[in-house]
Amino acid sequence: MPTPQETARLEQIKRTWQQKRQITDRLAKIKTKIGVYSGKGGVGKTTVAVNLAVTLAGQGHRVGLLDVDIDCPNVAKVMGITDKPDYVDGQIIPAEKWGVKVVSMSFFQENQDEAIIWRGPMIHNAITQFLQATDWQDLDYLLVDLPPGTSDSPLTIMQSLPMDGFVVVSTPQDLANLDAKRCINMIRKLNLNVLGVVENYTGDIFGQGGGKNLAKEVDAPFLGNIELRAAYRDSSKPTALLDESVQDEFSAVAEAVKKSLKEFGSEAA
Ligand SMILES: Nc1ncnc2c1ncn2[C@@H]1O[C@H](COP(=O)(O)OP(=O)(O)O)[C@@H](O)[C@H]1O
Ligand SMILES: [Mg+2]
Repeated sequence: MPTPQETARLEQIKRTWQQKRQITDRLAKIKTKIGVYSGKGGVGKTTVAVNLAVTLAGQGHRVGLLDVDIDCPNVAKVMGITDKPDYVDGQIIPAEKWGVKVVSMSFFQENQDEAIIWRGPMIHNAITQFLQATDWQDLDYLLVDLPPGTSDSPLTIMQSLPMDGFVVVSTPQDLANLDAKRCINMIRKLNLNVLGVVENYTGDIFGQGGGKNLAKEVDAPFLGNIELRAAYRDSSKPTALLDESVQDEFSAVAEAVKKSLKEFGSEAA
């Protein structure tokens, strides 16, 4: 007869194993998983993740967007999603807008302004639960909006999500890209792929070239420039759906990402 402790321990092992298998089954239905990452907040990660997602969806791909920026989960706001996702039989059914399926940490906040201060293990549990419970169905691309920097939380996320690679968002100024370089080092230390660098805020005000220089320096593909534009002030839709020039920029980035995925041996739809 096993002791109650032994029984409890066996149950625990069984649960962990079932959880792992469920996550593997879920993720097997997603062809390509891409993280959008940066050294700092405010460089345009969410902007790039959202606009890349709607651009890929507009090309007929099945696209999901997972917001795991625990501290500042802004994807739902930028996508204009107000509905909470559905729960059916303990499963999360993603919200859907502009042809993109969305799950965000913000869905689980009581109000949008609430500060989220979570420690490592809680972040790990939350991510694991997301991965286990979300019914994405079949996807060509899952884009993951990551927290910035090289602290615990992006690290945890990189280790719990089997990613095909990362799009690093940087800025036109070389100096600011020191942080981006640290991020790239972290990705590579974990033996993960840097799909390339996007330069955001290109234009007269901040200049141009930092992203391309960074890409060259770290020997990663340069994926394109995204100009600083007033068009982003209109929050009625993701800007790539409002402004043709922005659409062109993101179409170019999407092509460059697909090319990079192929070079890394990932399946690009
Ligand atoms: N190319 C751009 N032109 C104008 N505004 C931009 C551009 N990229 C981002 N923004 C704005 O800058 C702010 C920060 O961008 P965001 O994507 O939220 O950064 P992050 O996710 O890296 O913190 C947002 O208000 C966004 O609309
Ligand atoms: Mg963000």
